[in-house]
Amino acid sequence: MVPLPVAAASVVAGAAYLNARFSLPHDLLFFRISTATLLSLIRARRADNINLFYVLEKHARDKATAARPLILFEGRSHTYAETYDRVLRYSSWLRERLGVREHDVVALDYQNSDDFIFLWFALWAIGAKPAFINHNLQGSALAHCLRVSSARLAIVDPRVAHSLTDDVRRSLPGMEFVVFSPTVEAQALRQEPVRYPDAVRSESDYINMALLIYTSGTTGMPKPAVVSWAKIYMASNMSAKGTNATRDDIFYTCMPLYHSAASCLAFCSALCLGATGAIGRRFSTKTFWKEVRETQATVIQYVGETCRYLTVAPPEIDPVTGENLDKKHRVRAAMGNGLRPDVWDRFKDRFGIDTIYEIYAATEGAAGLWNVSRNSFGKGAIGRFGLVSGAVVGRRSTLVRVDNETEQPWRDPETGFCQRSKAGEPGEFITRLPAEDIKQRFQGYYGNEAATNSKILRDVFEKGDAWFRSGDVLRWDKDGRIYFHDRIGDTYRWKSENVSTAEVAQILGLHAAVQEANVYGVQLPHHDGRAGCAALVLDKASGLPEKKVLDSLAAHARASLPRYAVPLFVRLIKEVGTQTTSTNKQQKQVLREQSVDPAKVQGDPVFWLKDGTYVPFGRDEWRALQRGDVKL
Ligand SMILES: *[C@@H]1O[C@H](CO)[C@@H](O)[C@H](O)[C@H]1NC(C)=O
Ligand SMILES: *[C@@H]1O[C@H](CO)[C@@H](O)[C@H](O)[C@H]1NC(C)=O
Ligand SMILES: *[C@@H]1O[C@H](CO)[C@@H](O)[C@H](O)[C@H]1NC(C)=O
Ligand SMILES: *[C@@H]1O[C@H](CO)[C@@H](O)[C@H](O)[C@H]1NC(C)=O
Ligand SMILES: *[C@@H]1O[C@H](CO)[C@@H](O)[C@H](O)[C@H]1NC(C)=O
Repeated sequence: MVPLPVAAASVVAGAAYLNARFSLPHDLLFFRISTATLLSLIRARRADNINLFYVLEKHARDKATAARPLILFEGRSHTYAETYDRVLRYSSWLRERLGVREHDVVALDYQNSDDFIFLWFALWAIGAKPAFINHNLQGSALAHCLRVSSARLAIVDPRVAHSLTDDVRRSLPGMEFVVFSPTVEAQALRQEPVRYPDAVRSESDYINMALLIYTSGTTGMPKPAVVSWAKIYMASNMSAKGTNATRDDIFYTCMPLYHSAASCLAFCSALCLGATGAIGRRFSTKTFWKEVRETQATVIQYVGETCRYLTVAPPEIDPVTGENLDKKHRVRAAMGNGLRPDVWDRFKDRFGIDTIYEIYAATEGAAGLWNVSRNSFGKGAIGRFGLVSGAVVGRRSTLVRVDNETEQPWRDPETGFCQRSKAGEPGEFITRLPAEDIKQRFQGYYGNEAATNSKILRDVFEKGDAWFRSGDVLRWDKDGRIYFHDRIGDTYRWKSENVSTAEVAQILGLHAAVQEANVYGVQLPHHDGRAGCAALVLDKASGLPEKKVLDSLAAHARASLPRYAVPLFVRLIKEVGTQTTSTNKQQKQVLREQSVDPAKVQGDPVFWLKDGTYVPFGRDEWRALQRGDVKL
């Protein structure tokens, strides 16, 4: 009996589900892809060639693909054969010069670049495992990530070498740091391209670790999640086949490669197809479309608020012809995670993107969902997130009711068990794990049992069962459609009502003047719960006076939201994307802590809801709140 990895669970649930509900083509597609991937995993394990180095090798040796570009980066192009040659030279340098051996973990602290990919595959070529370090990290956070990787060697991008301060080095006495400068690179390139025997890449199981990828660490330090070969197979095949891509496609990503979205979904999809991966060094609305045009990309990747930032950026005009360049590209599809309904159509329409593939999955997660959408849909589709592809209904994945006070799954006081959410009721998305052998589906955090266990929920519906906690609160309707409700912990309580920050942000985002809305609850003196606050970036191009915009915003919020959910406070932020992670995901932590205290909001104008509109909130008003003179 073959243990079922990753998404195989949803395949099983899918079959029954298909008959019961939709027979939409992409549900069938999902089913087909996961089955095919599972079979190729089993085959690869038998042949003991699960390492993705073999995929690179296959394409580099195949006449049909050898001379095709695999990597496009800043004007450079590397074919499959060239990439393979470099990978072999770098791997020989790693093994002979630096003594790296199979199963060693090696930290890679790198910005997006072609060298990042060469080094990554060179490590795989000798059976070593890269730990992708967030190159933005400094000081103790950097030292922490390096330490918990267990690596003894870190290869560092010359562009980020300045973060290797004496303090960092001193706190890691056992670690060797090699800055991959042009001199070192030349040395690595002079090595002979050695192909080491298959034995160094042998893997006993497809759930073995392929990579370490860190969580973003928005609360506490980042944690390294073990990414198995099986997960990379699933991710790359899902996005390759799921986006209907072929060898002729060019996947463009400027999301950081040290996250799984860019590395496992975008780049590995291109590789798995024999197609091309175009890499941008970093996200910027100023270079995004320029690089998309230059690389002739056909599929672009987004994460978080990326599409929002592109949509609200001013159009690019050809300086010679005066032509608007918005639709001057070959992009047929955008794939990613986090595209919210309030920008969905605007993004599609402005840039003329035919298909959106919204994929929902976590790095450390054990299942995925997706929503494929070609046509435009009725306005006002509130919070609709995606269509289940069999994953949610059935025994394998489900939603459980959340205790809004403790932010833990709710337990029946009599039985001690959790309860499935009713249709329409929000619940945390959980997926079943094999209780006897959790590692089959969830490999957890590297060397951190406490963190691993915090993602596992036990005795959920019966004694002894085990489930993976996604941390996402979703909602489904009677037709099985899934809506994103909120991240667990983001929902706040006000006047005994539970308010989803994501839903409020989405409603505010539908107002024409709002470029970005980030909603959170703030604690106020002499008040229970949290009051809603919206950090907003307003479109200055309209030229309307601020007062008018705020009046119409208040009217819009009051007309579209229940009374208790209308934000009591509005904080105006100057620029979009000021509180986001490196994958453009909104952050609430800092904003929440700053509250609406005029001394802490960094000079941002704050307003509060008075007589149906937003009026300035300053020191006097804050003092009145502190004295307890105001009851909200
Ligand atoms: C995939 O491509 C084929 C042929 O180009 C097309 O007929 C089909 O509708 C596409 N499917 C999806 C899900 O986009
Ligand atoms: C899935 O991905 C792996 C690795 O990229 C590849 O070797 C395999 O052929 C793919 N499976 C299918 C069914 O395409
Ligand atoms: C996908 O999401 C969009 C935006 O939320 C929604 O309008 C659309 O109906 C969804 N598609 C499906 C098939 O559920
Ligand atoms: C949590 O809040 C939601 C939204 O108000 C509600 O539907 C749900 O029943 C609450 N959970 C529990 C366990 O009361
Ligand atoms: C909000 O959540 C609390 C705690 O889970 C619950 O008791 C309450 O019923 C919820 N309120 C509503 C209106 O759903």
